[in-house]
Amino acid sequence: MWFKNLLKFRDFSKISNSSRNYTAIASVLEKANVGEFAEVKGWVKNLRVQKELIFADVTDGSSAKRLQIVIPKKLKTDALTYGSSVHITGKLSCSPRGQLELAADSVKVLGECVVADGYPFNPRTTHPPEYIRQFMHLRARTNYISSILRVRNAVTKHIHDFYTSKDYMHVHTPMLTSNDCEGAGEVFKVQPDNEETVKAMMQEGRDRDAIYFGTKTFLTVSGQLHLEAICRGMGNVYTLGPTFRAENSRSRLHLSEFYMLEGEIAFCDNIKDLQSHVEELLKYVFIKTRDTNEADLYSIDKDNKAPLWLDKEFITVTYEEARILLDKKGMSITEEGINKEQELALVDYCNGVPVFVVKWPKNLKSFYMKECEDDPNKVDALDLLTSITGELVGGSLREDNYDKLKSKLPSDSLGWYLELRKFGNIPTGGFGLGLERLLQSLCGVANIKDTLPFPRWPHNCSL
Ligand code: 4AD
Ligand code: MG
Repeated sequence: MWFKNLLKFRDFSKISNSSRNYTAIASVLEKANVGEFAEVKGWVKNLRVQKELIFADVTDGSSAKRLQIVIPKKLKTDALTYGSSVHITGKLSCSPRGQLELAADSVKVLGECVVADGYPFNPRTTHPPEYIRQFMHLRARTNYISSILRVRNAVTKHIHDFYTSKDYMHVHTPMLTSNDCEGAGEVFKVQPDNEETVKAMMQEGRDRDAIYFGTKTFLTVSGQLHLEAICRGMGNVYTLGPTFRAENSRSRLHLSEFYMLEGEIAFCDNIKDLQSHVEELLKYVFIKTRDTNEADLYSIDKDNKAPLWLDKEFITVTYEEARILLDKKGMSITEEGINKEQELALVDYCNGVPVFVVKWPKNLKSFYMKECEDDPNKVDALDLLTSITGELVGGSLREDNYDKLKSKLPSDSLGWYLELRKFGNIPTGGFGLGLERLLQSLCGVANIKDTLPFPRWPHNCSL
């Protein structure tokens, strides 16, 4: 068989190397030895010109650490400046300080960078995040954003590793949907932009609002309902994908497009099991990332320390207990529920240890949440609150009683969701975690707009 022949080539590293025709600086710094030949391509982050030699710090996105390149002056061209992109070859040597450096034997400038022409960043300068945010297309060049994006990549990997180790199946839930899962009216409507298509479809007698799909269609606010359908057939599942909310909020915690990790646990009939799962997941991701991306976390925030809660149990309070606690602090909850300031006060009260708020009043939560067995006015829901973000996770047991769910169903179009309870139903519980808020909490990033490459918020969808 042809694939048996292919398997003879066991050295897959050869295949992967060919996808990057140079050596990543991260692997040079970690694995290479003095005396070896190396070839790097990247961007000049700093340049110091001395009598005989030029020292250039070069990064290529693979590490928060830079590789120092020692360049004989005769190889210098005028185009070799701060910000330029370069291709350098040479031999690795050891600096007087004991660090690996590259003694260049060839230097080629691939792209010039004339700072005076309007390049917004300067060497040896820590630009504030608000300043960097004005240059979305160039900000991957900054230490701050490149470190955050590397952490984001690592966190995503750790999440997938966590679920793989637990035999959960990763599911791609749709981005286009006809439901407003949360029922909060924060959906974006999807319509074709092509007038010809619209005209042709109108002639078929279609409703303007449902012109393309035959139903009103939105960008998803959550993959939960679809995930529940797959869970009732395949067992434990999760999804990590983009979600969209048309909230009129420009706060440091809200985006119009964000990534949500959603898990649905099959045969889960106790909220405590859901809590343990979320707690284990968070601790796993925090511990792993602190291990894999130490230099990035330091580069993002020099004061970022491992949280004290890593070896403590998360705290659980009921909504009622939270209300009493906040009352005592002179922060009374209104009928709208716990606000951001109050969420943060609760975490503060627990000395920064994440807090699960459980047993929520039914009227504050979504239709699919399971009624508490001992109180029909409460639902088995949880919000997990952490410092910096307040709410990081929202979840619940799902209402599995057909009649109770039917009485709360917000729309007839969700008949399929109700039907899941009719045929071979099982109890399930699940949650949604905002990936960007997780990154804020992990990295100590105040503004959510700095946790993803191209943030979208009201009046901002440039690029
Ligand atoms: O609490 P939410 O609305 O829960 C759901 O959507 C459930 N259907 C999830 C589930 O049970 N499968 O959102 C979950 C999390 C929030 O706790 C928050 O971290 C994040 O998503 N989130 C946002 N993050 C950034 N910008 C926004 N506008 C966000 N809205 C929610
Ligand atoms: Mg919520």
